[in-house]
Amino acid sequence: MSEKVTSAGTAFPEGFLWGAATAAYQIEGGAREGGRGPSVWDAFCRVPGKVYGGHNGDVACDHYHRWREDVALMKSLNLSAYRFSFAWPRIMPEGTGAVNGEGVAFYDRLIDALLEAGIEPWGTLFHWDLPLSLHLRGGWLNPDMPNWFADYAAQIASHFSDRVKNFMTVNEPQVFIGGSYAEGRFAPGNVHSLPECLVAAHHLLLAHGRAVQALRSGARSKIRVGHAAQYNPALPASESPEDVSAARQATFAACPSAELDPLKIMWSFSLYHDPMMLGTYPADLLARCGHLMPKIAEGDMETIAAPMDFLGLNIYWGDPVRASAGGPVRVPHAPGCPMNSFGWPVTPSALYWGTRFCMERYGKKDVYITENGVPLCDWVGADGAVHDPARIDFIRGYLGGVRRGLSEGIPFKGYFYWSLMDNFEWASGYSQRFGLTHVDYATGTRTVKDSGRWYAKLAASNGASLDSQDSFSD
Ligand code: FCB
Repeated sequence: MSEKVTSAGTAFPEGFLWGAATAAYQIEGGAREGGRGPSVWDAFCRVPGKVYGGHNGDVACDHYHRWREDVALMKSLNLSAYRFSFAWPRIMPEGTGAVNGEGVAFYDRLIDALLEAGIEPWGTLFHWDLPLSLHLRGGWLNPDMPNWFADYAAQIASHFSDRVKNFMTVNEPQVFIGGSYAEGRFAPGNVHSLPECLVAAHHLLLAHGRAVQALRSGARSKIRVGHAAQYNPALPASESPEDVSAARQATFAACPSAELDPLKIMWSFSLYHDPMMLGTYPADLLARCGHLMPKIAEGDMETIAAPMDFLGLNIYWGDPVRASAGGPVRVPHAPGCPMNSFGWPVTPSALYWGTRFCMERYGKKDVYITENGVPLCDWVGADGAVHDPARIDFIRGYLGGVRRGLSEGIPFKGYFYWSLMDNFEWASGYSQRFGLTHVDYATGTRTVKDSGRWYAKLAASNGASLDSQDSFSD
């Protein structure tokens, strides 16, 4: 790996969380069991051509039945925390109204087993599986969405906040508004105009703020609330002050191109996170799209900016940028640069720059890498093992960025590898394997990969074994 970011010698702080992440639709299966209602992803997967190979999450990793085995797996990996999501349609099959006792009981069992195994449960309220009936009532375009989401959040608080202490409201607004409403690549799959997308974004932001309040006011013990942001930071092409400042500017541009490109705007980071963290929409968005923005009622921005306890960042890679007289310029990745099976570049410094830029813009606060990981072409070899040295190298490199941040005072508190196990990768179906554990989808068999065994050692040593060259391949 060419990019060097390691600040060797910096120790991970005591209590640093070594976690892994998943999401309900991607692993649970049991789609028609236990009173679960349909979600937009159940419907989207049935539309020909939308999901690779016509795959769907009906069975996925069958975690709905194998949760006990999966908690034992986490324990064998020495995880100190596990990030999962509640399936809204399992808790409230219609999205509003009646609560499904069987759904609540499923998460009760999971949470109890995690606690018994000494693993902190970290719950995300919404990881894209919107109840289908809410979509049929307009989904994120319906001004009632913030109320519906707040009601759901109140249910989560009342049932689980005695045992779950860390909640994330929404996972990656850019994807379920940008990737869905602007692009149509993800469920529900309808393409909307820029003004409609901005309405959806505003409702989503209000829903987030209302959920923060509902979680806090309904909490049965002291809880912490944050969210998980999708983030592809711009990376300075060199560490010259000019390039660093160009990368910072590019990272937070809400309207990065000369024309008003709905995709670029709806995928931008600051569109969502400036309102959440600063209580204002980004200045460049207001200057260029002010006339397209929805009406913002009095009090909306205060609701959206309800204070959070931590920052959760989902970072997979960044793109290099350099300074020029005309503003930041994208620098192409070098020919032959390391790439994963998705075609995403491997850029270990992304965790460092991405977090540093956020701390500078939004102020210092506890930060967790709520997702980071790599898909590779893994399979179970003739020796019965899964040898994935590139994943070990990936995690080692990216954690080097965390270590550099720690050495400069960034309060990194934990890292959640995406994912605990191979799973349903949305529009890419089962074609991408991100897991520390291999899943044979025909039999449900889990096989811990070499990287999983390496990560277990890393977690047990609180990161001290990061530089060990042991690849666990024999
Ligand atoms: C993130 C999603 C997660 C998974 C990873 C690879 O954008 O939050 O569900 O699909 O990408």
